[in-house]
Amino acid sequence: MSSETTNSLHDLIDLTGRRALVTGGGKGIGAAIATRLAEAGALVTIADLDPDAARFAEQLGASFAVCDIAEADQLAAAFDAASGDDGLDILVNNAGIFPTTGPIADVSDEFVHRMLDINVRAQFSATREAAARMTGGGAIVNLASIAALGGGANISAYSASKAGVIALTRASAHELGRQGIRVNAIAPGIIDTPGVQDQMAPLKAGGLDIDARIAANPVGLRGLPDHIARGALFLASDLAEFVSGQVLVIDGGSTA
Ligand SMILES: NC(=O)c1ccc[n+]([C@@H]2O[C@H](COP(=O)([O-])OP(=O)(O)OC[C@H]3O[C@@H](n4cnc5c(N)ncnc54)[C@H](O)[C@@H]3O)[C@@H](O)[C@H]2O)c1
Repeated sequence: MSSETTNSLHDLIDLTGRRALVTGGGKGIGAAIATRLAEAGALVTIADLDPDAARFAEQLGASFAVCDIAEADQLAAAFDAASGDDGLDILVNNAGIFPTTGPIADVSDEFVHRMLDINVRAQFSATREAAARMTGGGAIVNLASIAALGGGANISAYSASKAGVIALTRASAHELGRQGIRVNAIAPGIIDTPGVQDQMAPLKAGGLDIDARIAANPVGLRGLPDHIARGALFLASDLAEFVSGQVLVIDGGSTA
């Protein structure tokens, strides 16, 4: 995996034969990441809650494991399916939830518990499963959010969960670096995905121009899943072999 012996751009981004697991890879950002990893030659397994994601995996030539990342048995089975005799090379910890949070006064402990359980605790469990299988080193890419970097009304529980992802990323980069595993995070801005469209549906019904909202950044582009996938490909590949413990913000300049 070292680039000391090669300067070829092709070799640095080539993932041929590397085994990759993408959680929540059935649609949205995860699907775009799975697509780019497969294009770079990786042997991709998609783990998703939604059984319908099997069709997308098949079209991509990827393997599929129906899996709720919050369930230990299902998570371990997905990792077993993704790993070969030589273990696993890449984990993209993408699956996450972002239900409308609302004002702090209205948010129940149960809601916060579920948010932290999926977005932080399950990513932690997946990190543990990956580390046990990345016997030859590897790369982990965690999906955080710009919501962890700046404040915002009515997103407190989500922001807290994604701040946990960033802390997990930095701490595990220190610890797992000793076994050749790099760990980085991506903090996307608002990206046009099925999850975001669902969440914004009530606002759209109230007259909000969703496309304009999604393009409200200095670059002036609609945030697309592939914008995030390009960053994930960089972090997963040997282009980033000296990059670990970092948060790559991909938001069209919103947080600049
Ligand atoms: N879209 C954005 O604007 C945005 C911004 C910042 C961060 N993110 C983060 O990016 C990630 C992906 O977001 P998205 O917008 O593509 O989401 P999405 O809702 O469009 O898609 C999420 C996918 O994950 C799967 N999934 C959900 N819960 C799961 C679970 N418990 N186990 C396995 N699979 C599960 C879903 O079935 C779906 O296929 C999330 O972690 C999210 O917090 C998204």
